[in-house]
Amino acid sequence: MLVSLFVIWQVYPRVQKMAPSFRSVLTIAALASCRFATAQNKRQNPDDTADRYHPALTVYKCTTAGGCVANERAVVIDWNYHWFHTADWLSCTTATGVNATLCPDQATCAENCFVQGDSNYTNNGVSTSGDALTMYQYTINEDGEAQNASPRLYLLGDDGNYEMLQLLGKELTFTVDLSTLPCGENAALYLGEMDKTGGRNDYNTGGAKFGSGYCDAQCPVQNWKNGTLNFDGSGYCCNEMDILEANSRAHSFTPHPCNDNDCDKGGCGLNPYAQGHTNYYGLGGTVDTSKPFTVITQFITDDGTTTGTLTTVNRRYMQNGKLIDPANPKGDLITTESCNAAGSGAEKFGGLTTMGKALGRGMVLTFAIWNDASGYMNWLDAGANGPCSDTEGNPALIAQKNPRTHVIFSNIRWGDIGSTFKPGAGNGSTTTKSAPTTTTTTSAPAATQTHYGQCGGIGYSGPKACASGFKCTKLND
Ligand SMILES: *[C@@H]1O[C@H](CO)[C@@H](O)[C@H](O)[C@H]1NC(C)=O
Ligand SMILES: *[C@@H]1O[C@H](CO)[C@@H](O)[C@H](O)[C@H]1NC(C)=O
Ligand SMILES: *[C@@H]1O[C@H](CO)[C@@H](O)[C@H](O)[C@H]1NC(C)=O
Ligand SMILES: *[C@@H]1O[C@H](CO)[C@@H](O)[C@H](O)[C@H]1NC(C)=O
Repeated sequence: MLVSLFVIWQVYPRVQKMAPSFRSVLTIAALASCRFATAQNKRQNPDDTADRYHPALTVYKCTTAGGCVANERAVVIDWNYHWFHTADWLSCTTATGVNATLCPDQATCAENCFVQGDSNYTNNGVSTSGDALTMYQYTINEDGEAQNASPRLYLLGDDGNYEMLQLLGKELTFTVDLSTLPCGENAALYLGEMDKTGGRNDYNTGGAKFGSGYCDAQCPVQNWKNGTLNFDGSGYCCNEMDILEANSRAHSFTPHPCNDNDCDKGGCGLNPYAQGHTNYYGLGGTVDTSKPFTVITQFITDDGTTTGTLTTVNRRYMQNGKLIDPANPKGDLITTESCNAAGSGAEKFGGLTTMGKALGRGMVLTFAIWNDASGYMNWLDAGANGPCSDTEGNPALIAQKNPRTHVIFSNIRWGDIGSTFKPGAGNGSTTTKSAPTTTTTTSAPAATQTHYGQCGGIGYSGPKACASGFKCTKLND
C-alpha cells in the first residue's frame, strides 16, 4: 500500500490519545479487577499465556478434489491499538512515542510495560458474524461525534500464531461490500510476510495473539518492532501483496516485492481506471460497487505447480453469480513483464519472482480501513487513477458526510486454482462442508479471570476467581 507509512503515524497518536480513555473505560467498566496478590511480577504480559478474546471468523480452505471446508478462525487487532501501561496503570507511551524513562532499552521496557490484554473490538469499529467481517472507519460517541477507529486486523491460525496463507500456484477469493466507502477511503485486504509468531520472544511473550510484528513494503518505523521496543528507530520492511485497496469509486491490486531492508514502495499494480477502463469498476459500473461482489485472485506459476516461479497474477470478479469479463481483452493480468515495466522499481527487487517466493513461504492475511489526511488517497482514486476530485478524500469531509463508512469482507476462501468459486452459485460460493476437525481460537471467558480482567461488580456474571498469583480487587461497584 502506497501510503501505509502514513497510517502508522496516524495510528500512534490515536493510540496515545486512546490511552487515557481506555484507562477510564477500564476503571469504570472493570468494576473490580484481578491485581497482583504478591510482589510485583516483572515478566511482560503476565497473563499472555491465557487465551485472549478474538472475534471469530469462519474462512474456507478449498481443494479441487474435496471442495471447500469451513475453518473456525479469528482476527486479532494490531499491537499498536492495545494500550501499553505500567503495573500501576500509567501509560508507557507519550504524545511523541515511548516514555524513555520507562523504556530506556528493550529489557527495561519489557519489565516496566505491559500490553493491555483484551481489546474492545466494538470500540475499534470491528465486528464479525459467521464468515463476515465488518470494519468501520469511525465509531460514533455518546455526543454523536465521529471518532477515528481505522482498525487493522490479522487472521489468526488455530495455534495462537498467524495463519500463514501459502498462495503460490493457488487462488484467494472473497466477497466485499464497498457500497458505503466514498472517495478517499481505502478498504484493504492484503498479505504481508510478517513473522508467523508475531516475533514472540522473551520481551514479547504474547506475540501474534496480541497482534504484534507488523511490517509492510513501506518499511514503517514503529514504536515497537516485532513487539519489542524499536530502540534504534529502524523501519521494518517485508514483502507485501495488496489483493484489494478500494472504495466504491476506484481500486487497485499491487505486488510490492522487497529485499531485507528496502522494497518496491510504489508497487507494480493494476488499476483498470488508470488503464483507461473508466466505467469498468464503480457505482453502476460493470463491476457494480453499489452491491457486494466477489474478487478472485489467482497466482499462476510458470509450470502450474505450487513451487514454480510466479509469472501471472490474474484478477476476476463475480457478481450475482456471473463471472464478469475482464476490463482488458487479454485479461486483468499482472505479468512478469508488466511488473518489470511498471517503472516502480519492482525489477530491482526481483518483481513477481520475489513476490511468488514470499507467497510460497506463507503470508499473513491483513484487513484494514483507513483514510489519509496528507494525500487524500489521490493515488488510489483521483486524477488518472479514478473519478474522484483531489480534495473530496479529505478525512474531515468523510467524517462529516460519511461517518458510518464501513467495509464488509465475507466468504474468504483459498486453495487450488478453480476451487474457490463457481459461477451460477449465488454470490460465488461453492458448496461448503464444515470441517471435521475445526478448532477455534476464540476463547469463552475462562473459569478463572486473567490479570486485569473483570472479576466482580454489579450485574457481572463472568468468572470471579482470579488466575493463580492474582487476587480480585474492588475498584468500584
Ligand atoms: C514517563 O514515566 C515516568 C514514570 O512513570 C513519569 O514520571 C513521567 O511523567 C512519564 N513521562 C511522560 C512524558 O509521560
Ligand atoms: C466495549 O465498550 C462498550 C462501550 O464502552 C461496551 O458497551 C461494551 O460492552 C464493551 N464490550 C466488551 C466486549 O467489553
Ligand atoms: C521478528 O521476529 C522473527 C522471529 O523471531 C525473526 O525471525 C525476525 O528476524 C524478526 N524481525 C525483526 C526485524 O526483528
Ligand atoms: C448475495 O448477495 C445479496 C446482495 O447482492 C445478498 O442479499 C445475499 O444475502 C447474498 N447471498 C449470500 C448467500 O451470500
